[in-house]
Amino acid sequence: MLIDGSKVAAGLAAANALAPTGPIGLGQALADPESKLRRPGFNLAFKSLEEETFLPRIAQDGKLPKWLTGTLLRNGPALFEIGEEKFNHWFDGLAMLHAFSFAGGKVSYRNRFLRSSQYWAWKKEGRIKFSELATDPAPDPCRQIFSGVSTLPVLGRVPNANVTIEKLAGEFRAHTEIPIPVRFNPKFLNTLGIEDGAEMQGRLGTAHPHFDPETGERFSYEVELVPPSGLRIVSEKGAKRRELAFIPQSSPGYLHSFGLTRRFVVIVSQPFNFNLAKFLSPDRGPIITNYEWQPEEPTRIILVDRRRGGVVRTVETDAFFAFHHINAYEQDGKVIVDVCAHKDAGVIDALYLKKIRSGSKVPQAKYRRFEIRLSNGKMTQRDLIDAYIELPQKNYDRVNGKHYRYAYGVGLKKGSSGFIDQLVKADVKKGESRVWRERGVYPGEPVFVPRPGAKTEDDGVILSVALDGIRRRSALLVLDARDMEEIARAWVPHHIPFGFHGLYSRRT
Ligand SMILES: [Fe+2]
Repeated sequence: MLIDGSKVAAGLAAANALAPTGPIGLGQALADPESKLRRPGFNLAFKSLEEETFLPRIAQDGKLPKWLTGTLLRNGPALFEIGEEKFNHWFDGLAMLHAFSFAGGKVSYRNRFLRSSQYWAWKKEGRIKFSELATDPAPDPCRQIFSGVSTLPVLGRVPNANVTIEKLAGEFRAHTEIPIPVRFNPKFLNTLGIEDGAEMQGRLGTAHPHFDPETGERFSYEVELVPPSGLRIVSEKGAKRRELAFIPQSSPGYLHSFGLTRRFVVIVSQPFNFNLAKFLSPDRGPIITNYEWQPEEPTRIILVDRRRGGVVRTVETDAFFAFHHINAYEQDGKVIVDVCAHKDAGVIDALYLKKIRSGSKVPQAKYRRFEIRLSNGKMTQRDLIDAYIELPQKNYDRVNGKHYRYAYGVGLKKGSSGFIDQLVKADVKKGESRVWRERGVYPGEPVFVPRPGAKTEDDGVILSVALDGIRRRSALLVLDARDMEEIARAWVPHHIPFGFHGLYSRRT
């Protein structure tokens, strides 16, 4: 259902009627039968949201900073089943874009599904038609009879790009781990499509490219899964594309992000290895089931020269797993690499929808720093703060690739709900962290927005879309990034399924 025009006023009235009043952050429990549970209202975090909405003004508590005039764009899965067919994993649901726009101290909200090939299969055929990371379409009986084996993944032309949003040369693009971005209009969230001639090939990419605002270069990688298999590091400047390195790998490891310093592209290559033979066999399963954790192998940190290309150094450490780099930079002849480090790849398994919904604990990541001496390759490592951290963000334009002090992320209070239940600000200089939490509230990735004219690294606000499980709806939290105190909260009248990443843009 698309709500617009005449329904807007009704929507706003409903939002206001539903929104709690009174002081912010008291977390007063409403009469909710689930409120005594360990995770009140948590079932909404992975419950489908089918409605597309535009609300020109949503209810809010507190006062927004006057300088906050822009849009927070978010991406994440929002539909977890089509008819009787279910997506298996959090990473597989249908992409929905969300926009919280700020003007004159007020907030509007819009959401819209990305018009991917999978979206149109839902609308026109009512089925899961294409393969996702951990979901394959139901077998086609005719093809099964004739081939006798399961077929290779069936990929849609327009990917279900539900992971991140990139702004590049004024264009907004949604990404997943296939190197085909999907362009969209940031005001209306309508899908504009993919590049002419973009084709699915036997390769994966990153949903987390880097952009260096000082040089105008964009960095990314591609993983070739079929021989000659390996990892290709790429830089682009306008239409000019350069291959900086190709690292042959017989069983390419799973990669999600990378780091960027002034001189290096930093790859953390982990032994969660793709098994091509299994993938080509009759019992292959969805693509992620063909990766194998091989802890007897090391995790390798690979430094690629940004300017001249080529691998400068590779160092090895005991196996660990990381989705996300936090930052990387060079100092005193060393390369510093900070990541969210998991013990192993078990976190992917823990994020199957059946497991998360059943209340299983999700493995957590530590804020780990590796220091590599460039002259001899010696490496040390340590954890910088005690708190867990994931979905990391920072003052990107100011500190990416540079010495820095603060990062922000989501985490889990030790011994608590088992899922994300707090926001964390890390002070790596002091080795301390500060948290924001409220019972029954599950916050998403914290996006840092600097105050115009800010002198210090943490002068700005944190924006996080949080599910309030007790009030059974989602809200946009606005925190002062300096002390993580809440400034304001803007309510949508429904839940927003737990998403991944987003960005703030002053201009859309
Ligand atoms: Fe990510």
